[in-house]
Amino acid sequence: MDSILIRGNGPLHGSVPIAGAKNACLTLMPATLLTDQPLTLTNTPRLSDIRTMTQLLQSLGAEVAGLNAGTVLALSSHDVTSQRADYDIVRKMRASILVLGPLVARFGQAEVSLPGGCAIGARPVDLHLRALESMGATMDLRDGYVHARAPAGGLRGAVIEFPFVSVGATENALMAATLARGTTVLRNAAREPEIVDLARCLRAMGARIQGEGTPTIEIEGVTTLGGATHRIVTDRIELGTYMLAPAICGGQVELLGGRIDLVAAFCEKLDQAGVSVTQTDRGLTVARRNGRVRAVDVVTEPFPGFPTDLQAQMMALLCTAEGVSRLEERIFENRFMHAPELARMGARIDVQGGIATVTGVERLRGAPVMATDLRASVSLILAALAAEGETLVSRVYHLDRGYERVEEKLRACGAQIERVTRA
Ligand code: UD1
Repeated sequence: MDSILIRGNGPLHGSVPIAGAKNACLTLMPATLLTDQPLTLTNTPRLSDIRTMTQLLQSLGAEVAGLNAGTVLALSSHDVTSQRADYDIVRKMRASILVLGPLVARFGQAEVSLPGGCAIGARPVDLHLRALESMGATMDLRDGYVHARAPAGGLRGAVIEFPFVSVGATENALMAATLARGTTVLRNAAREPEIVDLARCLRAMGARIQGEGTPTIEIEGVTTLGGATHRIVTDRIELGTYMLAPAICGGQVELLGGRIDLVAAFCEKLDQAGVSVTQTDRGLTVARRNGRVRAVDVVTEPFPGFPTDLQAQMMALLCTAEGVSRLEERIFENRFMHAPELARMGARIDVQGGIATVTGVERLRGAPVMATDLRASVSLILAALAAEGETLVSRVYHLDRGYERVEEKLRACGAQIERVTRA
């Protein structure tokens, strides 16, 4: 199992290319199931989660080919042979549930295992199921599988009001609605850039969609969708993560492909903490202004609020800030598993329910630590970059789900970081 070894050493200088968004790619790939025509995705990230989605689609009979060193995916669902998403694949990744809407919409039926994924709270899929039920589908939960069936004549357009914002449920409903009869209105829909990206791709495939990026999305169903070529939006979470590297270590780093509008709420907090962010022609340049960063309070919220997927990384920064910060996690329960690991490096963090209070210390110290989930793993790497001495982060398979070539990207900025492979 691989580990990552980091020796904390001073300021970082350089540039980091930011990949296409993992979470956009994970919803764009199942969109292939909506059509028998080819779908080509460019700017795809090379990650284990993408390989898992590839396996899942292939198990249904779809063709998925990685081109151009894996940065282009050519997908075809011309010869889909199965509508069953097996437990063995689904348990590896929660986003597998995103095949449900497209399968029911095009084939009238699906059997999808209930998902697993990161251990960050209960994470049910009731909203996904309810949205499809509103469109006339029947849902039967048996043997750990959702057995879904569309009514005779296919899914029907419906008005669906989500009780709270869910990215995945919005994506499933949006995809299903493109092939439903009549108009679907999604209220209290997620506004994440990944939803906007999905809507753009679906529109290029012939879907009729309005309002993406706002809380109300209107979809007028069509009978068939065609093929398209779509470039995936920049990964705002990878972007935010690397923005924190110079914030924690000092120095100046340019994030190629970065856009402020993708991370506006996060930039506001960085500014309050004493970190400047500038938009350039090529991306974003980030530099710590002077001295230690200052404590700030953070509350995670659906987009355009502060993203839960940057909470762990932000906590790493605040561990060395001057003063006391308060981080409130409102999206996922149990998403502070990085806190005890950061404490092993000398951080002072008190977790009470969904609130973590962080008292900044001048310096963290290297220690052996363990990654507990995807974002937690990278928060430990960020903390280690600024810590005194050596840190060995184990269980980095979590990291490989969402970050490509992390050692290479950080080394290019002067970090001392290497992967240690043990048989
Ligand atoms: C997506 C992202 C994930 C991110 C999250 C929130 C992907 C592949 N993953 O996850 O990285 O952290 O958005 O920005 O895009 N919920 C229910 N019932 C449901 C669905 C969700 O109760 O049917 C709850 C969840 O447990 C959670 C909240 O709603 O507390 C938000 O979850 P959701 O937005 O659905 O997250 P995901 O789409 O799973």
